[in-house]
Amino acid sequence: MDTYLETERLALRRFTADDADLLIELDGDPAVMRYLTGGIPTAPEVVRERHLPNILAGYEKWGGDLGLFAAHEKDSGAFIGWFILRPEPEGPLDEVELGYRLRQSAWGRGYATEGSRALLGKAFTELGVHTVWAETMSVNHRSQHIMRKLDMTLAASIPVPADMAMIEGSEHGGVRYEITKDQWEQH
Ligand SMILES: CC(C)(COP(=O)(O)OP(=O)(O)OC[C@H]1O[C@@H](n2cnc3c(N)ncnc32)[C@H](O)[C@@H]1OP(=O)(O)O)[C@@H](O)C(=O)NCCC(=O)NCCS
Repeated sequence: MDTYLETERLALRRFTADDADLLIELDGDPAVMRYLTGGIPTAPEVVRERHLPNILAGYEKWGGDLGLFAAHEKDSGAFIGWFILRPEPEGPLDEVELGYRLRQSAWGRGYATEGSRALLGKAFTELGVHTVWAETMSVNHRSQHIMRKLDMTLAASIPVPADMAMIEGSEHGGVRYEITKDQWEQH
């Protein structure tokens, strides 16, 4: 396994060209996609032709240090979903987005917080990152709960992108949380 990061219970690795089925299954669960597409699964050909090639191109662009990473349970080897630690396409390398998308069977076990905490540590101590930000819909309480557990602070209310306007709760807008290296060191 091309390991990127290990925590007590999880191993994160870079995706490979053989991983389309894992992504298709993850995005095929309406509960997982509820606050992303309103529950609509991502079409398999979009995963194969667009998402996975983009993920692999990101490793080229950022030397394998930043991007989307597959997460597995160390005990069972099971794929549990992915984490993201990634700059904007043309943005500065020291400002990166944190994100997570886990299979429903992996929710409620602290995995998202455990993986995110380790990613913050790696970002600030190894990757020269200055600020980590995360965005979600206001009604995505599980996601915001993680941000708060990570000591990220609410930085702004943001509009929901036009292509997400049909999602239940979009009228409440979105939120952006941030944490700087200085703030992280103080905790
Ligand atoms: C958002 C998402 C990652 C949250 O996952 P999650 O499992 O609820 O998040 P956590 O890792 O923080 O775990 C939550 C709970 O696990 C429980 N838990 C069980 N065992 C635990 C352990 N060993 N350590 C810590 N928490 C544990 C805790 O009760 C914790 O809840 P609490 O903080 O209220 O006490 C998940 O719901 C998801 O993938 N959703 C779909 C995609 C999505 O919306 N992504 C975000 C888009 S912005």
